[in-house]
Amino acid sequence: MTDIATHSQLSALIRHRRSIKPVDMDSSRMVERSLLMQVLEDATWAPTHGLTEPWKFVVHQGAGRARLAEAMQRIYRETSPPQEFREDKMKKMGVNPLIAPVVIAGVMVRRGGVKIPEVEEIEAVACALQNLMLSATAAGLGCYWSTPPLLATQQFAEWLQIGPEDRCMALIYLGWPREGLKWPQSSREPVESKTRWCDV
Ligand SMILES: Cc1cc2nc3c(=O)[nH]c(=O)nc-3n(C[C@H](O)[C@H](O)[C@H](O)COP(=O)(O)O)c2cc1C
Repeated sequence: MTDIATHSQLSALIRHRRSIKPVDMDSSRMVERSLLMQVLEDATWAPTHGLTEPWKFVVHQGAGRARLAEAMQRIYRETSPPQEFREDKMKKMGVNPLIAPVVIAGVMVRRGGVKIPEVEEIEAVACALQNLMLSATAAGLGCYWSTPPLLATQQFAEWLQIGPEDRCMALIYLGWPREGLKWPQSSREPVESKTRWCDV
């Protein structure tokens, strides 16, 4: 893995990944279980302090997406302060999970006890989710990390059946890009502006 071609391919893959929203996915094309398994397994090769592997993936497909959409709409209605409630947002929550063929809830399951701080388990899951998205991108899938505030509610945790110390960190929407999609462009600030060299 020190070979230069592999490095440049990996670099190209990392830079090619873009957030592809459900509206830009082909809702009629399923994602095979074997491919999903590979992408999930790649996720689990993330670094994890103490090898606690503090992740859980709840995969919503088929009718499971409708149940997710219903739960999100209900919890959004129940938990939004009246001045913040937006009808268009609620509608979108009912639609997006049905357009994307797969929606994966990425959960941090607290396993480290007093030895591993919670933040480190959150970091490990973030690494796993990036692995997942890079693996999906390499397979040609589009993906998008979404964090509506309701993910942090007790109602959603109960619906997802996760423990009081666990955290749903993301809904990852996955699907094949729709035909004719112009792959989005993005940019990043020059890394020099984010780097301080301490070498003299
Ligand atoms: C922790 C995290 C949470 C995010 N939550 C949202 C979100 O709720 N809504 C959204 O539109 N994008 C969300 N994104 C995606 C970012 O908006 C996206 O990565 C950013 O615009 C850069 O675009 P790119 O992914 O195409 O490089 C999230 C990304 C991360 C890492």
